[in-house]
Amino acid sequence: MPAAVIVGLQWGDEGKGKITDFIAGEADANVRFQGGANAGHTVDVGNQQFKFHQVPSGMLHRGVYGIIADGSVVDPPELLGEIEGLKKRGFSVSKLFISDRAHIVMPYHKQLDGAEETLRGTAAIGTTRKGIGPCYADKHSRIGFRMGDLLDVSGLREKIDFVARIKNAYASAIGVDVRIDADELYSEMVSYSEALRSHIADTPSLINGMMARRKRLLFEGAHGIMLDIDHGNYPFVTSSNTVSGDVYSSAGLSPRYGIKTIGILKAYSTRVGSGPFPTELSDSVGEHLALKGMEVGTTTGRRRRCGWLDLFAARYAVMLSGVNEIVLTKLDVLSGIDRLKVAVGYSVNGKRLSQYPSSLKDLMSAQPVYREFRGWDDQIDEGIVMYRQLPAEARRYVEFIEKFLRVRVRIVSVGHSRDSTILRGSASFF
Ligand code: GDP
Ligand code: IMO
Ligand code: MG
Repeated sequence: MPAAVIVGLQWGDEGKGKITDFIAGEADANVRFQGGANAGHTVDVGNQQFKFHQVPSGMLHRGVYGIIADGSVVDPPELLGEIEGLKKRGFSVSKLFISDRAHIVMPYHKQLDGAEETLRGTAAIGTTRKGIGPCYADKHSRIGFRMGDLLDVSGLREKIDFVARIKNAYASAIGVDVRIDADELYSEMVSYSEALRSHIADTPSLINGMMARRKRLLFEGAHGIMLDIDHGNYPFVTSSNTVSGDVYSSAGLSPRYGIKTIGILKAYSTRVGSGPFPTELSDSVGEHLALKGMEVGTTTGRRRRCGWLDLFAARYAVMLSGVNEIVLTKLDVLSGIDRLKVAVGYSVNGKRLSQYPSSLKDLMSAQPVYREFRGWDDQIDEGIVMYRQLPAEARRYVEFIEKFLRVRVRIVSVGHSRDSTILRGSASFF
């Protein structure tokens, strides 16, 4: 298959960035199709670290096209900062293309994100405050700005005037201190138009054209499936679809092309922000995972909540995204824990559930049904290059995951670097 999509099977931070970089060397293009600067994908190469927010994580490979497709939301000042950072470190971004249909995160979206979170009080979602919810809301209300608007600055002026009226009326109705000055906003947008114009393109034509020429495309999910706006733990979700099927609508990829889904699963669970987390640990094991796994948010610097692996949730994510292969990450972090637990089901009010629930109330009161495993003491490090070198207990853990999810674990990742990646089977992903 000439195309593959990488999706996170949990609540984000599964290691999508590391694996995208690992596979992108084989690809002709790396495409982000949803989300925005709320994403934080880390790639470590040698002793250098890169934090990707909007630029596709595979762009460190020379010659790989980077595409930010229609379903993404673009934050111009943040994107320009990211582009500058890459250039300073000697990387070219001349092959970065941004869809003219992608929506723009406007400065007032970020202000409103923060203000609305404050108004929610104890019901706050714990968003990244990057303006994602307000931007997607305006897209659906049909008052959004698109990257293509930056190509027509006279039309932009008119549009800013009418949108400013609506947004200012909304802000004063909900009593928040957000006021758009149309002149200032216009000059700001004109500066982005100048800086980004050469990157704006008709990306669906580019993507389908590449597919027709049998080029290899690697799509990169921005967020975990459990944060999907429709299928995740609503309302503690992000504002876009994160499942693999979204590639077709959000990137404008024709359904005539088949695509392989690679699911990234972290060996335990983490979650940033509020929302249900049945396997969360507030004991010394949770502390071990947070410290050894260095579980601090890439985008906001918030400490991630940690817990046991939740295979009941992962099985739901695998079903939703039709996962063909799994990459298991951060297995090394489990070394040194005496007994490991894995959730294989939930019970609510003493009753075992047959399917992953949609009700927030059920999710909040769900008790995990655990399966226990013996842990291992030996450190798993870069010296381990073959699967059979892993401790027997670690292999048992991996093989249970495969059996439960009925999907092969194709890669076991045992460290943050490119080298700490154990392949099982053939080297090609396409
Ligand atoms: P993403 O949002 O899914 O791309 O994940 P993040 O980059 O936000 O968080 C994953 C973190 O774990 C990053 O700092 C990675 O460098 C690191 N990482 C990835 N795979 C492994 C692994 O197998 N072991 C360890 N110890 N760290 C890993
Ligand atoms: P990566 O790319 C973890 C979470 C936020 C919040 C909820 C809504 O690193 O996997 P938003 O700002 O999107 O409106 O916030 O979604 N969230 C993430 N959590 N990793 C992410 O991205 C996330 N992106 C959003 O913490 O709970
Ligand atoms: Mg992340």
